[in-house]
Amino acid sequence: MSAPPFDAFRYAHARRREIAWLCQNTNHLVPPEVVRGAIEAALDERRYEGYPVASGDPELLERIAADLGLADSPPFLTSGGTEALYMIARALLRPGDEVVATDPSYLIIHRFVELAGARTKNLDIYAPPFRLTADRVQEAIGPSTRMILLIDPLNPLGTGYPREEVRAIAEIAHDHRLLLLNDVTYRDFSPAPTLAAEFAPEETLTVWSVSKNCGLAGLRIGGFSARPDLRQEVGRYNTNDLGVNILAQVAARAALASKPQWLPAVVRQTRENGERVAAVARSVPGVTAPAAPSWASMTVVDVRGTGLAPEAIQEEMLRTHGVFVRAGNYLSPRHGSAFVRVSFSNPTADIDRFAAAFPETVRTLRARAPSA
Ligand SMILES: Cc1ncc(COP(=O)(O)O)c(C=O)c1O
Repeated sequence: MSAPPFDAFRYAHARRREIAWLCQNTNHLVPPEVVRGAIEAALDERRYEGYPVASGDPELLERIAADLGLADSPPFLTSGGTEALYMIARALLRPGDEVVATDPSYLIIHRFVELAGARTKNLDIYAPPFRLTADRVQEAIGPSTRMILLIDPLNPLGTGYPREEVRAIAEIAHDHRLLLLNDVTYRDFSPAPTLAAEFAPEETLTVWSVSKNCGLAGLRIGGFSARPDLRQEVGRYNTNDLGVNILAQVAARAALASKPQWLPAVVRQTRENGERVAAVARSVPGVTAPAAPSWASMTVVDVRGTGLAPEAIQEEMLRTHGVFVRAGNYLSPRHGSAFVRVSFSNPTADIDRFAAAFPETVRTLRARAPSA
């Protein structure tokens, strides 16, 4: 019997205290006291015994709307932005519909599109400027196009959209009466955050999250904002009829209330880390960081020139160095075998470990592979 394939997540979770977690774009820089007091108070009150307000804590909803600057679109809470993406695809797409999207991308969204019987048209963005342009979006529109997927900044590339490009893409959506799914999960890391809803309020569904900006990925809370009739149509797929996790709501409220005090330092450190990751990558023969500098909390490290497989790099870094980066295959059908994704909203010590482990890993694997 052959050995079961290596399960990187199982391995890493079992050793999570020793692992530098650079694999899921999670944020490990938000001071813990930001949410600890609020969660402890909710625990003392045993708020988990009862259901929350079904539509969400009113103060949390106000804070989200104010944070996004979308005061006229009451936010809809879901279990992470992921659930909002699922609901939107199920509710608004029909068999045969086409969604203009990218490769690389955050592919779970593409799978949700397929579950609705629709399909994505994946424009290859693994070349400068490593994002969509309005011209390419315009060209890709055909008779079946129903939606444009605008993830800004983009996972896994870390690139983002200048304001004028967001405007131009939003105008295309408006002119063609297309839905615009604007996933702004990484918006707080961007030097130029722009919501498409500003330019196409009728067409845009804004999906947001507190997983990455507020460091609350494990609590699973996010949502979407859209014009009232779309909100209602998407809401038909709501599974949180009794509300979203109450501790997650309490934490999100505390994090958003204090965000101006801690976010700038988090973003500064994340950028510095990103520059360092790109510099380390570029110092290794055969390796590039083609999409850096990042506007988010991750970048791709292209290892094609080493002749090594990203999966081998992922496994060696994790097993030997306890540094968890992610092989690209789950993010790109066309280019997944070219890169690993490295995320870096982490303490400096984690980046130090990457800086030591990555060059060493490439050296070791190349020495082991005679043909590389
Ligand atoms: C582009 C994008 N959208 C949505 C999500 C999911 O976020 P959440 O944790 O809110 O479900 C991710 C997570 O990595 C992401 O990269």
